[in-house]
Amino acid sequence: MFYCKTIPVDNLEEIQQAVLNVIPKEDLIYPRLYYPENNKEIFLSIEPLKKLLSNLGWLNYINKAGFALNIVNPNSETAIHIDSGDFLYSFNLPITNCKNSFVNFYKLRNNIDLTSRVTPFSSYHRAEKNDCQLIKCFKLSEPFVMNTKLIHGVTNQSNDQRVTLLIRLSEGAPNIP
Ligand SMILES: [Fe+2]
Repeated sequence: MFYCKTIPVDNLEEIQQAVLNVIPKEDLIYPRLYYPENNKEIFLSIEPLKKLLSNLGWLNYINKAGFALNIVNPNSETAIHIDSGDFLYSFNLPITNCKNSFVNFYKLRNNIDLTSRVTPFSSYHRAEKNDCQLIKCFKLSEPFVMNTKLIHGVTNQSNDQRVTLLIRLSEGAPNIP
């Protein structure tokens, strides 16, 4: 089963800086997953990012959900969940402070249903930690592509807020795994 793999990006710093240049600072204050309005237009205007997606063969597989920012507070973790939406993969680029970040994959201990949650910014299917057993843990200080339809959660084990750019990819995107 495909969980996740790292994607080498030579010019990551250039892309990180360009992303920070197009996102208002106040949008990065609160911990949340959110899709900026007109996100495709905004992020595809970043030429090195567009070129990277083109080189990976993913430019035509960007899902209609598009690009999201995930902001996780210091020393905290996201809910354990499966992403909703009709994208299968997410290509995640560290933007700031991802040195001590992990994505954990879980399986359910019992055959229970996940709870659907909708926030003002996103929706997902949530599992409770007590119902889950950790099966894999990846350290993610580099860009990576992951399967969003497996139960997962992200932990930020650092003293700094962590920001990632999530690019939602549809099924059929080449070279995955
Ligand atoms: Fe997720």
